[in-house]
Amino acid sequence: MTTIPQQLSPEKLDQSQLAPEAKLTQWLPAQFRKSVGHFVRRDQVFDFLKPQHHPLLDTRHNILLYLEGVTKSFDGFKAIDDLNLYIKEGELRCIIGPNGAGKTTMMDIITGKTRPDEGQVWLGSNINLQKMDEAEIANAGVGRKFQKPTVFECLSVWHNLELAMAGERSVWRVFRASLNGEQRDELDRVLSLIGLQNHAALLAGNLSHGQKQWLEIGMLLMQKTKLLLVDEPVAGMTHQEMDRTADLLTSLAGDHSVVVVEHDMDFVRSIASTVSVLHQGHMLAEGSMSEIQSDPRVKDVYLGES
Ligand SMILES: Nc1ncnc2c1ncn2[C@@H]1O[C@H](COP(=O)(O)OP(=O)(O)O)[C@@H](O)[C@H]1O
Ligand SMILES: [Mg+2]
Repeated sequence: MTTIPQQLSPEKLDQSQLAPEAKLTQWLPAQFRKSVGHFVRRDQVFDFLKPQHHPLLDTRHNILLYLEGVTKSFDGFKAIDDLNLYIKEGELRCIIGPNGAGKTTMMDIITGKTRPDEGQVWLGSNINLQKMDEAEIANAGVGRKFQKPTVFECLSVWHNLELAMAGERSVWRVFRASLNGEQRDELDRVLSLIGLQNHAALLAGNLSHGQKQWLEIGMLLMQKTKLLLVDEPVAGMTHQEMDRTADLLTSLAGDHSVVVVEHDMDFVRSIASTVSVLHQGHMLAEGSMSEIQSDPRVKDVYLGES
């Protein structure tokens, strides 16, 4: 089982100091010290070093998402109860749990749709998601894919991706202004990543159910999403589409962190990631699928059900 670090609060992490800049430059002659000191100032990041998604995002500690001690009650009922969750950069994580375990509420809390009563929700060690609204959280690089795909059916696959492209291109501008070379390359890259390179001109309404889901994932990628939250991606898919989706989500990990809530155990097994089991709003167990399956507590509350 993975050990969950219990005391990894963002404030504490942020106190871990890099070498003070004075130390870095003390060997230099005085006349250079000032300019080099300026260059390594910790409060300043130069443009070429900035990540594209969010200039403030700090993942030096390799953890992209922290939930700590999060609690949320609805009419006195604790839907989320002292929940801890840590998602690493580039990780693919599956969250399973019986109906009512709090999976959707957890996603709602991460995306700012629901405010927790207690606890901490951070992106990296320096972005406090509780101080941001839903749009700001999305802009910071958190993308959520709902179960029902929400693509523009009357637009082509290409135009759907173009519309989603970061930079708030309005529908009007999509049809008036052409993309620059870099944007075109990015769009082509995402098109082939989601396996729709041969369907760029097709109206999204004519795609299969699975293809629409991939297009929607592509649209989140166009928005430079860093953390992708995916709710039951394979519901209603054919086996072939499920396999393709497993490949897609696996290929996204590394560049993105991906959190998948899924009921289909075969699918969870096929993407072979770390699995967290949510039960009564609390993390019951965390580990590989085989560790989870042999955990008697999990058998009791979840796998025994099906
Ligand atoms: N807006 C709400 N008002 C009242 N109860 C809610 C609300 N949202 C969720 N709940 C309750 O919180 C619990 C967790 O729900 P949910 O997060 O949807 O679980 P899951 O997605 O794991 O099935 C359930 O008992 C549900 O009835
Ligand atoms: Mg749910």
